[in-house]
Amino acid sequence: MTTNRPRPVIIVTGGSRGIGRQIVEDLARKGRGVVFTHSASDHEAAEVERACGVGASVRGVRLDITDPNAPEHLFDIAASSGTIVGLVNNAGVTGPLGPLGALSDEQLRRVVDVNLIATARLCREAVRRWSERTSHERRDIINVSSIAARTGSPNEYVVYAATKAAVDALTIGLAKELGPAGIHVNAVRAGTTNTTIHAKAGDPGRPRRIAEAVPIGRVAEPNEIATAVTWLLSAESSYVSGALLDVTGGI
Ligand SMILES: NC(=O)c1ccc[n+]([C@@H]2O[C@H](COP(=O)([O-])OP(=O)(O)OC[C@H]3O[C@@H](n4cnc5c(N)ncnc54)[C@H](OP(=O)(O)O)[C@@H]3O)[C@@H](O)[C@H]2O)c1
Repeated sequence: MTTNRPRPVIIVTGGSRGIGRQIVEDLARKGRGVVFTHSASDHEAAEVERACGVGASVRGVRLDITDPNAPEHLFDIAASSGTIVGLVNNAGVTGPLGPLGALSDEQLRRVVDVNLIATARLCREAVRRWSERTSHERRDIINVSSIAARTGSPNEYVVYAATKAAVDALTIGLAKELGPAGIHVNAVRAGTTNTTIHAKAGDPGRPRRIAEAVPIGRVAEPNEIATAVTWLLSAESSYVSGALLDVTGGI
């Protein structure tokens, strides 16, 4: 007998490469529908869709999450392919590497807009949509934070670190606010991970340099962070909410 239950869909911001791509591929392997964003990576996004295989329901959407209309647009697209059961706020930018004094006003605002304002707006959209449902079936918000929230990242990107600390506070507060409605809110605080984010910040060799300071002697691969995210989205984490899960190789 077939059931007509709509397919569960998870929204992942920044799924065209790095940690987000691994999250998308993990979820697709587990049979979940995924709608992911990128802002300017059509080729990479198409490659992710292809890598997830023909049977998978995975769709890349080009939009800038800082656009005030992006949350509504993105949730409308995801809702057209199933029931939205999760939101992963993964997209993030560091701004250029260096001391605070070197940062222009525009660069500073961009980091806050992408990492904090867009994340808060997307959480708000999820809350509004999910408040309309009649049952308290579980829903999840996962925020991809950073070890920088704890270290402050002096001389590298203190504003980025500050936005991630704010995301941690958002996670803790929302977990308390939304728990009674069956919405779990957690964060994964990643340590340095082998992605293109470091080259974009102006220092492609950063992971190699940082590895020496990591207790287990190396930086993370994207799949090692993605695994923590998909575990938090799974039935196995049924009693976890309000957690800031450090995946840092011991830092
Ligand atoms: N890599 C690390 O060492 C590390 C450590 C701790 C935490 N993190 C966090 O992990 C998350 C992922 O990082 P990553 O290293 O995987 O980054 P990445 O390789 O630079 O990938 C970032 C992804 O986000 C998308 N994106 C960026 N800005 C966007 C926007 N405004 N609108 C829509 N999509 C956007 C990018 O696509 P487009 O370029 O096309 O927009 C890309 O798909 C970030 O939140 C980061 O802060 C990373």
